[in-house]
This record gives sequence, C-alpha cells and structure tokens, in this order.
Amino acid sequence: MAKNKKLKLGTIIHGVGGNVSAWRHPSVPADASVSLEFYKKQARIAEEGKFDLVFIADGLYINEKSIPHFLNRFEPITILSALAAVTSHIGLVGTLSTSYSEPYTVSRQFGSLDHISGGRAGWNVVTSPLEGSAKNYGKPEHPTHDERYRIAEEFLEVARGLWDSWEDDAFVRDKESGVFFDPSKMHRLDHKGEYFSVQGPLNIARSRQGHPVIFQAGSSESGKKLAAKSADAVFTGHENIEEAKAFYKDVKDRAEALGRSRDDIAIFPGVGPIIGETEEEAERKYLEFANLVTIDKALEYLGRFFEHHDFSQYPLDEPFPELGDLGSNSFRSGTDKLKKNARERGLTLREVALQTATPRGEFIGTPEKVANLLQRWYEEDAADGFIIYAPTPDALSDFVTHVVPLLQERGIYRTEYESDTLRGNLGLPIPENRYTLDANAGVSVNG
Ligand SMILES: Cc1cc2nc3c(=O)[nH]c(=O)nc-3n(C[C@H](O)[C@H](O)[C@H](O)COP(=O)(O)O)c2cc1C
Repeated sequence: MAKNKKLKLGTIIHGVGGNVSAWRHPSVPADASVSLEFYKKQARIAEEGKFDLVFIADGLYINEKSIPHFLNRFEPITILSALAAVTSHIGLVGTLSTSYSEPYTVSRQFGSLDHISGGRAGWNVVTSPLEGSAKNYGKPEHPTHDERYRIAEEFLEVARGLWDSWEDDAFVRDKESGVFFDPSKMHRLDHKGEYFSVQGPLNIARSRQGHPVIFQAGSSESGKKLAAKSADAVFTGHENIEEAKAFYKDVKDRAEALGRSRDDIAIFPGVGPIIGETEEEAERKYLEFANLVTIDKALEYLGRFFEHHDFSQYPLDEPFPELGDLGSNSFRSGTDKLKKNARERGLTLREVALQTATPRGEFIGTPEKVANLLQRWYEEDAADGFIIYAPTPDALSDFVTHVVPLLQERGIYRTEYESDTLRGNLGLPIPENRYTLDANAGVSVNG
C-alpha cells in the first residue's frame, strides 16, 4: 500500500567510526572525531543527497576501553551549531541526556540551535546507559533504568512547556513606541514536579518550526512507552525485517492508543550500507573493515554494553557466559537482545563479540540490492526512514551517488527538499503554542 509520506533519510556522523578499529582504515582521517572539516564534508554530502537530517550520538563516560571515537569527540550542540552555518536544508539532530542535564539549559540550547539553523534542530532524547556517568556529574549513583525513564518523561514535559514561553507574536520590537514585547504573550511555566522545579519563562522564543523535533533512542518497554507518548521520531536498530516490523507496529499501535496519528511518529532503523559494483566488491569492502578488529578489541567493545564487564576471563569458544542481570541497568534493550540471541542460536563468546563489533547487516551489495532492501523495509512497514551509518567516509558518498538516484527513480524518495525546516521535511505538524491555543479557544467560546 502506498504510504502517505516519502522515505526519509538521515546519517549519523560518527568521526572515526562506531567500530573499535575503524580509525585504522586507510580512508578514515584518524582525527575525524575532532575535525570540523570532516563533519562539514559529511554533512554537505548528505545534503547533496537531500537527506532529512544528520545525527550526532553522544555519551557521558569513557575509560581506557572505550572505542577511539568515544575518547575524543565533539559535544553535539556545539558541532551542530557549526554545521548550521554551512548547510541550508538538512536537519541537525543532537543527542542529549535527560539523566544528567537540566531542562532549562537543554531547552535553551536546542531553542538556540533551532533559531541559528532557521528551524532545523532535533533532539535525540537519551537516558544515558552508562553507570560511570554518575561519577562525572557528582551524583551518588546512576538512577535505575525505570527511574531514568520517569525523569525523561518529566524532563520532556518541562522542555515543551518552556518552548511555549513566548507566543509567536510576543516580540513587538516597535522602536517608535518603545514596546519590545507584549507581556500578555510571555508565560511562566511554574512547574513543580517529582524531579524538576522550573519557573520559566525561557529566555528564547519559539522557532519557525515551533519546537525542535524530538527523537527518542531506547527500545525497552519504557523506551517504547516514552516514544509513543512524546517522540516525533524513533532511532532504533534491528537485525532483520521481521523484528523491525514488529517494533514498528508496536510503537505505532501505542501512539494510536494515546490518541495520536500513526503518521505523527516516524520510525528510523539504523542501517550500515556498504556498496560495491558487484556483490564480491561489497563483500571485500566489508571484510577490509571487519578484519581490522582483533578479538581482544571485540571483547572490550562488547564489555561496554555490560558496564565494561571483563569478557577476557571466559573461554572464547564455549557458549556465551551466563550473566544474570548484568546490563539491564544500562543498555537494557540491547543487552537483553544479545543474551537472547546467544541463547537461542547457541553462539560462543567469540561469535557474539565479533558479531557485535563488526555487525554484518543485510545492506551489503550492489546499489540495486541495497535500494531493493530499503524499499522493501519502507513499503512493508518496517521503517519510515533510515539512519544511514556509513562505516567509511566513502560509504556515504557511494550511497548518495549510487543508491539515492535509484530511490528517486522509483518515486519513493524526494528529488528536492519540500521545506527548509526539519518538521517540514519530515511532514510533521508544527505544535501550536499552548497559550495561544487556550486564548483562541477562549475567543471562540466567548465570541
Ligand atoms: C539506536 C539507539 C541509539 C542510541 N544512541 C544513544 C546515544 O547516542 N547516547 C546515549 O547515551 N544513549 C544512546 N542510546 C541508549 C538509550 O538512550 C538508552 O539509554 C539505552 O538504550 C537503554 O534504554 P532501552 O533499554 O530503553 O533501550 C541509544 C539506544 C538505541 C537503541
């Protein structure tokens, strides 16, 4: 069945890569994670490909076992503000934690980015999986998984309230009369909740798109609940189309049950396409990468998902060890899936570590093969769009040069931007200012 909206595309710009050893690949600038030039170049390639957005991931704790990109990388809002100045249409989505920030600061940061970019900001709301984060923020302990999601829910309520502090016509700026703003259009939030107490108003007005676009990344029960209630889009990861379809239906059903339209929440699985002229060439490119990863590095990478657990203590070629609850207070949805897969498929520790460090998704092959797969996932309700994770800088330009034209020819992907705001391109409604809505309701009732 034809969908109401075209396929959406984003790309995660990830410096020297999400792979433990990607920085050693000949095509990867070894300082990419802190190279403004690198980020600019990737953002421009994505904009040439008419992508909806670039996406910046983040984390708040490192140690000597963290992968190279995590050790030395840009803070998301800072790099996105720089990218706003050198792009014109592409959305700018940054990750920021609700567990270790204050809503007033975060609303202000995204409000500013939204103005600087002319309405292209998006916020990837995360709850911070890593326990060590507490040590960097003077907290006695990392809040539990459930509590982190309760904090996130209240945090988002406050942020949305703050973004409505000013009605759209509040700033009169009349030099003649000396009236800078209309006090009746400035609103205090006066929020007093379980976790936050915020008076407001926020010291920045709404942007052209009303509120920044809210992404959510977290796939547990609590994650899906939060997404269904509060997110415009979800960043997720799936191994196969069946799993992706089940997730897609689940989140859309939940949103609908809460009175939202299924079209008002977009699901973006992350995929890592590797394109070759032939299947063999694509496979060779994948192996060039995968072969850079030693088993020791793969074990360290796996360990991070389980609170930096030391996997080197177990035999490599025996069944994946029994870990009890380990991991459930950090990357819960991810660690649950890893344990379940290992158990059901009888995988060894070596297999789990290598599959995690060098995942070999389906999206490897000729441009036609990759375009067919993307089209299938999109048309069969496994995805509204994709976050393209390019394992090398060349992989993004290969995708834009060879796959994007196929998607365009098939009529499922745009040839020109529809809008110059992120909401406009994603086909999402502009949230009305709550106070203007109330005032208008008052007028119609009284009038
Ligand atoms: C696809 C995906 C991307 C994520 N990206 C980030 C990120 O950039 N930074 C971060 O701190 N957490 C990130 N997370 C972690 C989540 O915010 C969350 O803390 C973690 O997954 C545990 O929640 P869950 O069990 O609901 O998935 C991501 C999770 C997923 C599934």
